[in-house]
Amino acid sequence: MRAFLGIGLPAGIRDAIASAIATVRGLHAPVSWVATENLHITLKFLGEMKPDQVRLVEETLRVVATGIPPFSLTAEGGGAFPGTKNPRVLWVAFLEPLELVRQLQQNMENALSGAGFPREDRPFHPHITVGRIRGPLPPAWGERFVKALSGRRFGVVPVSSFTLYESRPGPGGVVYTPRCELRLEDPGTRKTGEEKGS
Ligand code: 2AM
Repeated sequence: MRAFLGIGLPAGIRDAIASAIATVRGLHAPVSWVATENLHITLKFLGEMKPDQVRLVEETLRVVATGIPPFSLTAEGGGAFPGTKNPRVLWVAFLEPLELVRQLQQNMENALSGAGFPREDRPFHPHITVGRIRGPLPPAWGERFVKALSGRRFGVVPVSSFTLYESRPGPGGVVYTPRCELRLEDPGTRKTGEEKGS
């Protein structure tokens, strides 16, 4: 299966993003917009995986999940990769502090590289991809997109777990199916086997 690790978003935040981008969508630029139900935060793209690799990844991720306490992320504003002047990917941003999501992604990279998955060579920049550019854009279009989202608060994402998603092409576009949910656990409050039994 083709898989990635990510964080799902509450419906209220997905809807708030959809309504904020409705105006720029209406300009009919050559952008492939992400379906509202598919909006998510990618932590790590895994690509094609064999069934025995899925089991190994799940075991590895259980250890990763017990090293980070639940946290929250505030979605506000937007940006473009590689930059506003030459956009290829359009996204919604998160406000600092981002230490815990960075730590989670770093621990994931470290653990998965030990399990044979290559490290991402780009620095991690937490975001929600909302659109991908498919052709030439009108002048200053990237700036216009960023301006439309600037200062708009989409909400707070409570992150108490992360998810292994399967990605499959469907007749109406790509379908993401959660395959395994890994609950975050504060390492400071983790109980030993002995304590659990008492
Ligand atoms: P993105 O959110 O940064 O766009 C599911 O396909 C997710 O995996 C996408 O949302 C995308 O992250 C990421 N992704 C897809 N193909 C990828 C690739 N070839 N390399 C790295 N990440 C990829």
